[in-house]
Amino acid sequence: MNNLEQLISQLFSDYQALNPSVKKIHQLFQNQSEQIINDHIAFRTIDFPEINIHCIARPFTERGYKIKGNYRFEEKKLDAIHLEHPNTSLFPRIFISQLRHAEFSKELQQVLRDLYAKIIQQKPTDDKLLMAGNPWITPSYNIYKNLLHESEYAAWFYVFGFRANHFTISVNHLINFNSLEGLNTFLKKNGFSLNSSGGEIKGSPQLLLEQSSILADLIEMEFLDGPQYLPACYYEFAMRYKDQDGKIFNGFIPQSANKIFESTNFRNK
Ligand code: NI
Repeated sequence: MNNLEQLISQLFSDYQALNPSVKKIHQLFQNQSEQIINDHIAFRTIDFPEINIHCIARPFTERGYKIKGNYRFEEKKLDAIHLEHPNTSLFPRIFISQLRHAEFSKELQQVLRDLYAKIIQQKPTDDKLLMAGNPWITPSYNIYKNLLHESEYAAWFYVFGFRANHFTISVNHLINFNSLEGLNTFLKKNGFSLNSSGGEIKGSPQLLLEQSSILADLIEMEFLDGPQYLPACYYEFAMRYKDQDGKIFNGFIPQSANKIFESTNFRNK
């Protein structure tokens, strides 16, 4: 079994390959002598028995993580959990969401059921599933566009499958930035576009968590009907505050996460 460092570094390599902005942002921070610490890594899945949030959580719970929070997103029809390692300054929090597929149209359910049937025919181990991508099908662009009307989340999963949807840099650990606003200004000056759905900064110091994200890079993906550009993964930034007891808040704010999900919204090249 790979250790936790190896697992996270494999996830990061895959994520970086799909998100050219990551290298540029690392370079920018390196030029400022910053050391990058991850706040959390996020995963997406569907609520089918053999691939649900608990299956995605297993590689982490087997390596010392504990489930610490449960969340529900009514509008996007998602459930989520977050996990923490006893050493949060060494290992990032893990955020895993799943789509409640039964609440969507028959057509959407059929697409996901067909995909699920193929997955369980050749299901890899939980460790491998976590970063399997989608080797089971070549997606159809028509189906992707149809899914988008109902759920951007389902459409993203249909194409990209299992992998880190985003990594999040901990702003608390940056030495040259003491506010998310300052960091956002720096990123925009350097040519990055921020997700402005619900404002560039989601959350507030009162809510003990502020988050922002750059828009997902457009990546060329292979479809049955030829290649197309679409948003893949994105980079997020989080600043956490201490609660009344002086302890850093470790959870997530559903209303903020709801808007952060939109960083992978479809846009034309
Ligand atoms: Ni996040």
